[in-house]
Amino acid sequence: MKILILNGPNLNLLGKREKSIYGSRSFEDYYEKDLVPAFPDMELEYFQSNVEGILIDKLQEVGYHYQGIVFNAGAYTHTSLALMDTIAAIETPVVEVHISNVFAREAARHVTFIGGRAVGSISGFGLESYRLALQYFERLKPSKV
Ligand code: DQA
Repeated sequence: MKILILNGPNLNLLGKREKSIYGSRSFEDYYEKDLVPAFPDMELEYFQSNVEGILIDKLQEVGYHYQGIVFNAGAYTHTSLALMDTIAAIETPVVEVHISNVFAREAARHVTFIGGRAVGSISGFGLESYRLALQYFERLKPSKV
Protein backbone atom coordinates (compact mmCIF):
# COMPACT_ATOMS: atom_id res chain seq x y z
CA MET A 1 0.00 0.00 0.00
CA LYS A 2 1.55 3.27 -1.13
CA ILE A 3 0.70 6.32 0.92
CA LEU A 4 1.85 9.90 0.42
CA ILE A 5 2.27 12.21 3.39
CA LEU A 6 1.99 15.70 2.02
CA ASN A 7 2.81 18.81 4.04
CA GLY A 8 2.08 22.36 2.96
CA PRO A 9 3.50 25.76 3.84
CA ASN A 10 5.61 26.36 6.94
CA LEU A 11 5.48 22.75 8.04
CA ASN A 12 9.17 22.52 7.13
CA LEU A 13 9.64 24.79 10.17
CA LEU A 14 8.16 22.36 12.72
CA GLY A 15 10.36 22.27 15.80
CA LYS A 16 11.26 25.95 15.33
CA ARG A 17 7.96 27.68 14.63
CA GLU A 18 5.45 28.58 17.38
CA LYS A 19 6.57 25.71 19.59
CA SER A 20 3.75 26.26 22.09
CA ILE A 21 1.29 25.33 19.33
CA TYR A 22 3.23 22.90 17.15
CA GLY A 23 5.77 21.38 19.54
CA SER A 24 9.55 21.23 19.49
CA ARG A 25 10.11 18.33 17.12
CA SER A 26 10.81 18.53 13.41
CA PHE A 27 8.52 16.59 11.12
CA GLU A 28 11.48 14.75 9.61
CA ASP A 29 12.50 13.45 13.06
CA TYR A 30 8.95 12.28 13.82
CA TYR A 31 8.60 10.74 10.36
CA GLU A 32 11.85 8.76 10.51
CA LYS A 33 11.79 7.67 14.16
CA ASP A 34 8.08 7.16 14.84
CA LEU A 35 5.94 7.05 11.72
CA VAL A 36 7.91 4.85 9.32
CA PRO A 37 8.71 2.17 11.97
CA ALA A 38 5.05 2.12 13.09
CA PHE A 39 3.84 1.06 9.63
CA PRO A 40 6.29 -1.54 8.34
CA ASP A 41 3.80 -2.89 5.79
CA MET A 42 3.19 0.47 4.15
CA GLU A 43 5.28 2.17 1.53
CA LEU A 44 5.39 5.73 2.80
CA GLU A 45 6.55 8.76 0.86
CA TYR A 46 6.94 12.21 2.38
CA PHE A 47 6.83 15.46 0.45
CA GLN A 48 6.66 19.08 1.60
CA SER A 49 6.25 22.31 -0.31
CA ASN A 50 5.49 25.91 0.53
CA VAL A 51 4.04 26.47 -2.95
CA GLU A 52 0.36 25.86 -3.73
CA GLY A 53 0.97 24.88 -7.37
CA ILE A 54 3.65 22.36 -6.41
CA LEU A 55 1.24 20.75 -3.93
CA ILE A 56 -1.35 20.55 -6.73
CA ASP A 57 1.20 18.97 -9.08
CA LYS A 58 2.12 16.39 -6.44
CA LEU A 59 -1.54 15.52 -5.73
CA GLN A 60 -2.15 15.09 -9.45
CA GLU A 61 1.00 12.99 -9.86
CA VAL A 62 0.10 10.39 -7.23
CA GLY A 63 -3.66 10.85 -7.22
CA TYR A 64 -4.46 8.00 -9.60
CA HIS A 65 -1.69 5.63 -8.47
CA TYR A 66 -1.37 5.67 -4.68
CA GLN A 67 -3.82 4.15 -2.22
CA GLY A 68 -3.98 7.12 0.11
CA ILE A 69 -2.82 10.64 0.84
CA VAL A 70 -2.40 12.17 4.30
CA PHE A 71 -2.53 15.91 3.72
CA ASN A 72 -1.73 18.81 6.01
CA ALA A 73 -2.27 21.81 3.76
CA GLY A 74 -1.16 24.30 6.45
CA ALA A 75 -2.72 27.71 5.93
CA TYR A 76 -3.85 26.77 2.39
CA THR A 77 -6.47 24.69 4.21
CA HIS A 78 -8.35 27.88 4.91
CA THR A 79 -7.92 29.58 1.53
CA SER A 80 -7.40 27.23 -1.38
CA LEU A 81 -10.29 26.47 -3.70
CA ALA A 82 -7.67 25.13 -6.10
CA LEU A 83 -6.51 22.44 -3.68
CA MET A 84 -10.14 21.56 -2.95
CA ASP A 85 -10.73 21.08 -6.69
CA THR A 86 -7.65 18.87 -6.98
CA ILE A 87 -8.78 16.60 -4.15
CA ALA A 88 -12.19 16.34 -5.82
CA ALA A 89 -10.55 15.54 -9.17
CA ILE A 90 -8.24 12.72 -8.14
CA GLU A 91 -9.28 9.18 -7.25
CA THR A 92 -6.95 8.57 -4.31
CA PRO A 93 -8.66 9.18 -0.94
CA VAL A 94 -7.27 12.06 1.10
CA VAL A 95 -7.31 12.33 4.90
CA GLU A 96 -6.95 15.89 6.16
CA VAL A 97 -4.68 16.33 9.17
CA HIS A 98 -3.76 19.19 11.46
CA ILE A 99 -1.33 19.21 14.35
CA SER A 100 -3.27 21.84 16.27
CA ASN A 101 -7.02 21.81 16.86
CA VAL A 102 -7.97 24.33 14.17
CA PHE A 103 -11.52 24.54 15.56
CA ALA A 104 -10.22 25.84 18.89
CA ARG A 105 -8.21 28.63 17.22
CA GLU A 106 -9.03 31.86 15.34
CA ALA A 107 -12.29 31.92 13.37
CA ALA A 108 -10.41 32.04 10.04
CA ARG A 109 -9.03 28.58 10.82
CA HIS A 110 -12.49 27.08 11.38
CA VAL A 111 -13.07 27.10 7.62
CA THR A 112 -11.46 24.24 5.73
CA PHE A 113 -11.54 23.92 1.97
CA ILE A 114 -9.87 20.52 2.27
CA GLY A 115 -12.28 18.89 4.72
CA GLY A 116 -15.33 18.82 2.44
CA ARG A 117 -13.52 16.79 -0.20
CA ALA A 118 -11.48 14.60 2.15
CA VAL A 119 -12.57 11.21 3.50
CA GLY A 120 -12.25 12.69 6.97
CA SER A 121 -10.32 15.10 9.13
CA ILE A 122 -8.05 14.67 12.13
CA SER A 123 -7.16 17.81 14.04
CA GLY A 124 -5.55 18.57 17.35
CA PHE A 125 -3.55 15.50 18.31
CA GLY A 126 -0.14 17.00 17.72
CA LEU A 127 2.14 15.03 15.41
CA GLU A 128 0.14 11.94 16.34
CA SER A 129 -2.59 13.24 14.00
CA TYR A 130 -0.48 11.74 11.18
CA ARG A 131 -0.35 8.33 12.88
CA LEU A 132 -4.13 8.35 13.33
CA ALA A 133 -4.59 9.12 9.64
CA LEU A 134 -2.29 6.25 8.65
CA GLN A 135 -4.21 3.92 10.96
CA TYR A 136 -7.31 4.65 8.88
CA PHE A 137 -5.55 3.52 5.71
CA GLU A 138 -3.98 0.53 7.49
CA ARG A 139 -7.40 -0.77 8.47
CA LEU A 140 -8.76 -0.63 4.93
CA LYS A 141 -8.40 -3.74 2.86
CA PRO A 142 -6.35 -3.00 -0.27
CA SER A 143 -9.34 -3.88 -2.47
CA LYS A 144 -11.39 -1.10 -0.88
CA VAL A 145 -8.93 1.72 -1.59
C1 DQA B 1 -1.99 23.59 10.69
C2 DQA B 1 -3.08 24.57 11.10
C3 DQA B 1 -3.17 25.72 10.13
O1 DQA B 1 -4.18 26.62 10.53
C4 DQA B 1 -1.85 26.46 10.08
O2 DQA B 1 -1.91 27.48 9.10
C5 DQA B 1 -0.70 25.58 9.85
C6 DQA B 1 -0.66 24.28 10.53
C7 DQA B 1 -1.81 22.47 11.76
O3 DQA B 1 -1.22 21.46 11.39
O4 DQA B 1 -2.22 22.62 12.90
O5 DQA B 1 0.26 25.93 9.18
O6 DQA B 1 -2.36 22.97 9.48
